[in-house]
Amino acid sequence: MSDNTPMFEIENLHVNIEDKEILKGVNLTINKGEIHALMGPNGAGKSTLGYVIAGHPSYEVTEGSIRYFGEDIFEMEPDERAQKGIFLAFQYPTVIPGVSMANFLRMAVTNVRNARAEAEAEATGGEVKKITPRDFRRLMKEKMALLKMDDTFATRYLNEGFSGGEKKRAEILQMALLEPTLAVLDETDSGLDIDALRVVSDGVNALMSPEMGILLITHYQRLLNHIKPQFVHIMMNGKIVQSGGPELALELEKAGYEMLRAQQVAS
Ligand SMILES: Nc1ncnc2c1ncn2[C@@H]1O[C@H](COP(=O)(O)OP(=O)(O)OP(=O)(O)O)[C@@H](O)[C@H]1O
Ligand SMILES: [Mg+2]
Repeated sequence: MSDNTPMFEIENLHVNIEDKEILKGVNLTINKGEIHALMGPNGAGKSTLGYVIAGHPSYEVTEGSIRYFGEDIFEMEPDERAQKGIFLAFQYPTVIPGVSMANFLRMAVTNVRNARAEAEAEATGGEVKKITPRDFRRLMKEKMALLKMDDTFATRYLNEGFSGGEKKRAEILQMALLEPTLAVLDETDSGLDIDALRVVSDGVNALMSPEMGILLITHYQRLLNHIKPQFVHIMMNGKIVQSGGPELALELEKAGYEMLRAQQVAS
């Protein structure tokens, strides 16, 4: 891999669901240290893009490529993508009675981190440093402190009595524990109130590093006042129709999507 290989590069991506074309030629490059916001009207294909990146089996890629550090991600199983540092903010599982947040996270995170440790050991010829329950507890404590989360949170039961904002918090905690290189955060379905917006944005800002890239899917210009993207992209009808800096989100807030729709029809 040469030095100027992009971290993450989507090229001419076409995706079908049940023979209906949803993504119609998406191009997007994300490098380390960059936050990209993806906006656009309902049904544009934003979540579809997230699912395709994560490797959801329902989506059929008919054309184009996605490369992660130069490697074709369609050659990787979803768990291999996670192990290599690709993270999609998890769709909250349905109630699992009797499983605490801490246990759920321990299972999910231990699997990914151990697989990562094995791959590293294989590559370097070193020893496999598996994560022990004790390591996990230490890591969890550290990340919860970083995210300013209450200790009691971890012992709460999964999905029972979690509010929307608390679910978002759990999502951010999972991201903190996995230490991804590329995080795709799809906020659309969550109906966040102002507190939840703050939780998400403070958490993301605390976790962002020069070694990481973020794709932030959002409807809220407000969120972008807290998490500052360098790039904003507008997706409409399965394509990115406009890209710019943070000012694009502000313009959009004023003019709405109608102006862009009119431009699309005219062109
Ligand atoms: N499983 C599916 N079967 C059929 N059509 C689907 C399926 N999933 C998504 N679609 C369609 O794909 C299109 C894009 O959906 P997607 O969820 O990616 O949009 P979105 O941009 O995330 O929208 P929103 O802002 O509402 O979250 C929509 O027209 C949707 O109806
Ligand atoms: Mg969506």
